[in-house]
Amino acid sequence: MAENTRTVTCEAPVNIAVIKYWGKSNEELIIPLNDSISVTLSTEHLRARTTIRSNSGSREITFSLDGKEEVLTKRFLRAVELCRAEAKRQNTSTAEELAQGLSIVSENNFPTAAGLASSAAGFACLVTALKHYYRITGDVSGIVRQGSGSACRSVFGGFVRWLKGTAPDGSDSIAQQVKPASHWPEMRVLILVVSDHKKETSSTHGMKTTAETSRLLKYRADVLVPQRCAEMTAAITAKNFAEFAEITMRDSNQFHAVCLDTYPPIFYLNSVSQAIIEMVHIYNQYKGTPTVAYSFDAGPNAFLFTLEDNVNEVAGLISATFSEMIDFRGLPLQPIRTEASLA
Ligand code: PMV
Repeated sequence: MAENTRTVTCEAPVNIAVIKYWGKSNEELIIPLNDSISVTLSTEHLRARTTIRSNSGSREITFSLDGKEEVLTKRFLRAVELCRAEAKRQNTSTAEELAQGLSIVSENNFPTAAGLASSAAGFACLVTALKHYYRITGDVSGIVRQGSGSACRSVFGGFVRWLKGTAPDGSDSIAQQVKPASHWPEMRVLILVVSDHKKETSSTHGMKTTAETSRLLKYRADVLVPQRCAEMTAAITAKNFAEFAEITMRDSNQFHAVCLDTYPPIFYLNSVSQAIIEMVHIYNQYKGTPTVAYSFDAGPNAFLFTLEDNVNEVAGLISATFSEMIDFRGLPLQPIRTEASLA
């Protein structure tokens, strides 16, 4: 981060949930129905970058994303307001600074809104940049959460848990690091971009419809996820990849099952995603133990977790399997878009 009193630039990474967040108990404050756990990637391959400059002589806030001027959303403005309020509370900026307009310029080095957690990196980056711009100290994950829920997990590196909390105002719904990346440096993520088109059902709309119509979601959030979070934390702590992989795959499948249980149903996976799932199970069977795990968010792209020793074999297998598939089914799959390590 480069900083002077007038310009701040930050970079923030993407995080991939291995226990998924899906459904809110409070729409306005973005309080989730269940805890979730994620892995933060390094900023080397997938990252948002945001620069904030003061708009001298103006009170206006402008925002551009990937070179395009954007309309300021309610959530965006709320993030700015919450940071200003916190700076005022901590007395870290002058009244003049807090009133001054801002020019905010962001760019992602990957397709926006294609199920690659771009809003997660984007909001974590925006709020972290504002934090440094207004010289706020302490944890800002609660502010990030109110911009884009899953983004609060991108505030920390390594393995991160977002607590649903118990306070009605969401004040204890914050992110906490379970373990730093250095705890399990062999962990790797391969990202298979099946489609870089903007997703059809946004996660905000999707999870609202699921919460309103799926009975399965309640059981998942109240009973299954709490058990799973405990098991996942134990697997990460013990660096037990087989356990980590099985829980990750089961949770991804269950998330897509509640999407299917939504009425009308939501389909995020396509036939290429399904072929990837089959391939991973066949490969794991051949290896005799879970060696690769898949996870899919609100889109068809696959995140494959494996340990460093297997990266080349898995990457080779994917290229071999899916180059044929492109010819056979005519589906657009760019085999390995990027290999990312943890932050
Ligand atoms: O925070 P949102 O609104 O982008 O929702 C994210 C939802 C999932 O990516 C599907 C799951 C998760 O926990 O990241």
